[in-house]
Amino acid sequence: MHFLNTVSFLSIFVVSALFPLSASACEGPCITNTTDKYIEKFTTPVKTLLGYTNIKIASRFYIPSTADCASHLQDAYHKVAYASLENAIFPSYFHGKCEQHTANGTLVNPPGCPNPDCPVVCGTPGSMVHFFPVLRNITVTTHEEIFALLTKQDSASFQDVKTCVLNAMPAKKCPNKDASHTTRSFSRLFAARFPRSLARGSFTGLSRRETCFDDATFEKDLHDVLQAGMVQMWPDVCDAHNEYAKCNWEKEMKAFILQFP
Ligand SMILES: *[C@@H]1O[C@H](CO)[C@@H](O)[C@H](O)[C@H]1NC(C)=O
Ligand SMILES: *[C@@H]1O[C@H](CO)[C@@H](O)[C@H](O)[C@H]1NC(C)=O
Ligand SMILES: *[C@@H]1O[C@H](CO)[C@@H](O)[C@H](O)[C@H]1NC(C)=O
Repeated sequence: MHFLNTVSFLSIFVVSALFPLSASACEGPCITNTTDKYIEKFTTPVKTLLGYTNIKIASRFYIPSTADCASHLQDAYHKVAYASLENAIFPSYFHGKCEQHTANGTLVNPPGCPNPDCPVVCGTPGSMVHFFPVLRNITVTTHEEIFALLTKQDSASFQDVKTCVLNAMPAKKCPNKDASHTTRSFSRLFAARFPRSLARGSFTGLSRRETCFDDATFEKDLHDVLQAGMVQMWPDVCDAHNEYAKCNWEKEMKAFILQFP
């Protein structure tokens, strides 16, 4: 019994020596609350972006903007935002201890570390504050990566937007004598009856009654709209030319992060 206690004491000792539970690393609530705080701050720019995207979709496919097909992208964003952002900030960039080897081989925290302004990239609030421009850029570019994934043709969110647009599109009212049960086969049937060159034309070149497209052309058009509407617009929404001034929140975020020990 005494022996076992000694062993377990030793193993705890060894484990904690190897992986010290440093109270100064950003962990637990520091990670979850900081990530949540960022998601809260990004709500407005994401809403702005989706508003633009919705208008672009509506004008491209002659559907009312009240169809709100971009809402499917919003839903998909909510599902992945937390995990993507936490992963991009914490294990991917801000992690590890701040201690550095001195000449005599001991480990010491450099001045300012762990908090409040630690000039070593490590997993502490002080480091996140010191490298705030990197932290900000990570949060902005992670959003761009999320939007790129959500607008890929093989993503569920892309297909949801597509279904939404097709349901709202005047094109589905095109004459169709053959019974067809799905939008997809409808598009194919229609494309077969109309010359491809016509089907490939821009929507604006056709009257509303004639806007019938084959599936591949429709998907390509939708993909282009979503790339232009979401992925390419994002840096502008955040004001990339001005150090992402609109997605910065430097004062507020630094104060928020430094509340953690
Ligand atoms: C972290 O967030 C949780 C849940 O929102 C909250 O209860 C807690 O008070 C927060 N902690 C800090 C230090 O902000
Ligand atoms: C090693 O050097 C640091 C300063 O660089 C000093 O604070 C520490 O006391 C030294 N340790 C030993 C064992 O000499
Ligand atoms: C952050 O991104 C902006 C805009 O692309 C760039 O000008 C700046 O140099 C980046 N800053 C850092 C620290 O990476």
